[in-house]
Amino acid sequence: MGSLSVNVNKPPLSEQTVLMVRDVTVSFSGFVAVRGMNLSLRQRELHFLIGPNGAGKTTMLDVICGKTKPLSGQVLLPDGTDLVRKKEHQVARLGIGRKFQAPSVFGGLTVLENLEIAQDPNKNVFHALRKRRSDRVTSSMEEVLEQIGLGHRLDIRAGSLSHGEKQWLEIGMLLLQEPDVLLLDEPVAGMTDEETDKTGILLTEIAKKRSVVIVEHDMEFVRHYAEKVTVMHEGKLLTEGTMQEVQLNPVVAEVYLGKRRGSDVVAEGD
Ligand SMILES: Nc1ncnc2c1ncn2[C@@H]1O[C@H](COP(=O)(O)OP(=O)(O)O)[C@@H](O)[C@H]1O
Ligand SMILES: [Mg+2]
Repeated sequence: MGSLSVNVNKPPLSEQTVLMVRDVTVSFSGFVAVRGMNLSLRQRELHFLIGPNGAGKTTMLDVICGKTKPLSGQVLLPDGTDLVRKKEHQVARLGIGRKFQAPSVFGGLTVLENLEIAQDPNKNVFHALRKRRSDRVTSSMEEVLEQIGLGHRLDIRAGSLSHGEKQWLEIGMLLLQEPDVLLLDEPVAGMTDEETDKTGILLTEIAKKRSVVIVEHDMEFVRHYAEKVTVMHEGKLLTEGTMQEVQLNPVVAEVYLGKRRGSDVVAEGD
């Protein structure tokens, strides 16, 4: 019993909450975009945030990363730190990485240079150029390159990459900052089917170590990869659970899935 009992009261890692959004309300000059929203993120979870256009999904990511300040509510880390009180760059340093919809890599710099800047923003890229390649690719970069699959594209200018590759490079740049929570807004929008599949596998891999939150419109993608789905509607939490669970909810079908995709989405769970 003795040694076994040590872990008995400790929930498994995957059950641990890494971030909690509590009763968040956001008002844009009187227009309430998010109304009393609650959200819990657990460690090593691939968590999808879905809902019709204008539901408040992007605004929620903006609140979590410190870009938008809510009228009321909290965004709490396990140690009680309230991210609402922090500036955006401080939130980033506390382990929250945010990827916006459009890729924001440095188009004129190579893949390697982009990764070097992500790893060390103060780095002088031109000085680094004089070093040998093997000295420039650090072990954490190697790991990230393996994940994002751009190891063979190190010397290509980021501006010349495909849309999908740019998105992966940006994800790689975020990974080098070792976030506990990674927030992504519609990462597969505009990707080819093949790029979308690769991205799903990449995000699943990332979620083995981190908590990943994805705002997504592509229901096929959500159905395939989601462990947990939170549905927002008109700034509020509508329901959450597995994809199977949320698509059985008649209100979800009505406000979102049914309207957008027809009855097939609802019928699947029958
Ligand atoms: N900066 C802003 N100023 C005014 N209204 C905004 C602003 N940002 C978002 N909104 C409004 O808030 C609502 C939620 O927007 P958003 O979070 O972008 O929704 P979603 O990402 O779910 O489509 C929408 O009605 C949108 O028009
Ligand atoms: Mg949005």
